[in-house]
Amino acid sequence: MKIAVIGTGYVGLVTGVALSEIGHTVTCIDVDPEKVKTLSQGTPTIYEPGLEELMKKNMAAQRLSFTSIHKEGLDGADVVYIAVGTPKRTDGSANLDYVEQAAKDIAENITEDTIVVIKSTVPVGTNFHIKKVINAHTHNGVQVKIASNPEFLREGSAVKDTFHGDRIVIGAEDPETADVLAEVNKPFDMPILKTDISSAEMIKYASNAFLATKISFINEIANICDTLGANVENVARGMGYDHRIGPDFLKAGIGYGGSCFPKDTNALVQLAGNHHHEFNLLKSVIEVNNKQQVILLDKILDRFGGNLRGKRVAVLGLAFKPFTDDLRESPALVMIPELVKADANVIAYDPIAVENARKQIKENIDYTINLEAALRGSDFALILTDWPDVKEIDLEKYKQLLREPVVFDGRNCYPLDAVKQAHLEYYSIGRPNQTSELIS
Ligand code: UDX
Repeated sequence: MKIAVIGTGYVGLVTGVALSEIGHTVTCIDVDPEKVKTLSQGTPTIYEPGLEELMKKNMAAQRLSFTSIHKEGLDGADVVYIAVGTPKRTDGSANLDYVEQAAKDIAENITEDTIVVIKSTVPVGTNFHIKKVINAHTHNGVQVKIASNPEFLREGSAVKDTFHGDRIVIGAEDPETADVLAEVNKPFDMPILKTDISSAEMIKYASNAFLATKISFINEIANICDTLGANVENVARGMGYDHRIGPDFLKAGIGYGGSCFPKDTNALVQLAGNHHHEFNLLKSVIEVNNKQQVILLDKILDRFGGNLRGKRVAVLGLAFKPFTDDLRESPALVMIPELVKADANVIAYDPIAVENARKQIKENIDYTINLEAALRGSDFALILTDWPDVKEIDLEKYKQLLREPVVFDGRNCYPLDAVKQAHLEYYSIGRPNQTSELIS
């Protein structure tokens, strides 16, 4: 089939590339000509493992192209995907300006009846609104059918998730539209759930809100374990064996970040509120997460007598999680200003997110892409992202390179036994501290 995808961010680009890989002829449209130029050379504008190879392969097979001219991409398309951003407004609600603009661009450029699929995460009811916007602006009696097909991709494994996901959700206005989209997606060979449009829109928000709830729940348990001397990893393992709970998303740490959980939880609270429903459970999930991102600050300040004047901190990891250069809502964005406020000198290490960090972190700090350089001569280390090289570091390095072997670990990277054996002073999340008294 001939497919157009509007928006070449994480979702749009991965979707476009994946649809070309399963045999469709795809044109990805973006309003930014610079981006289109880069993409047309076979270079992805985001970091996503496996994406570049697939892009190049399908461009060479003439199944994948990029344009900034809507007419070029939309002409003759059987299906058009809208995959533009829906950023958080200051009140927490989703900003639909880009989706509305995409709708108008579709209306002005399509020449035959088309199915429009909304992939962007949008509040319940948006699909119907967008259909009205499109049909109000089309020419010569051309009409569209609308469908919701939410994405469940994780950054850093978006390509893998597209081909090996758990389900495909298709919310369509009639069975014929659902059947066409099921056919489009058939080669992905995944369970397909056909449903009404509003439920499909809600499935996306409810799924992300539930996963965020799991994380905040285990983080609260971790904080209680911390006071009571229990170990949250043992607790999570014990809970995860129960198949009604499941082992995933029970990893305690310094909270969730990224482009989806913070945005979508806030948007759902706002959406519920607009309909006079106080979503108190989800409000608490968000509040717990906001506190969790800075949970190690008190431990650090306690350890160093209230301020960090003259201390050099090696911050290990800037991205909100490994295998991405994305800093959106990353704990680093709140922790680094706090460290600087406490008069610390910060040297921040990240293998790929340094360039993005420079643009987003206002504080005057040092950066490095060399892990050992960050540790050398620093007074202590603070782990914010569980990058493999941080997880796999020889713990002796902390002793060799830091002035004192003091490590604050926001991602529970090391087994406590190994830390004990290496005689590190070690503070993690929801696990007993290995303090200086214990190791001396
Ligand atoms: C998420 C959803 O997983 C995906 O389905 C949706 O489409 C987009 O949002 P993503 O934000 O890319 O994906 O990352 P994910 O791997 O889910 O992690 C989100 C955050 O939660 C990260 O900051 C991660 O460190 C944190 N997390 C995850 C935990 O703290 N503990 C866990 O057990 C799992």
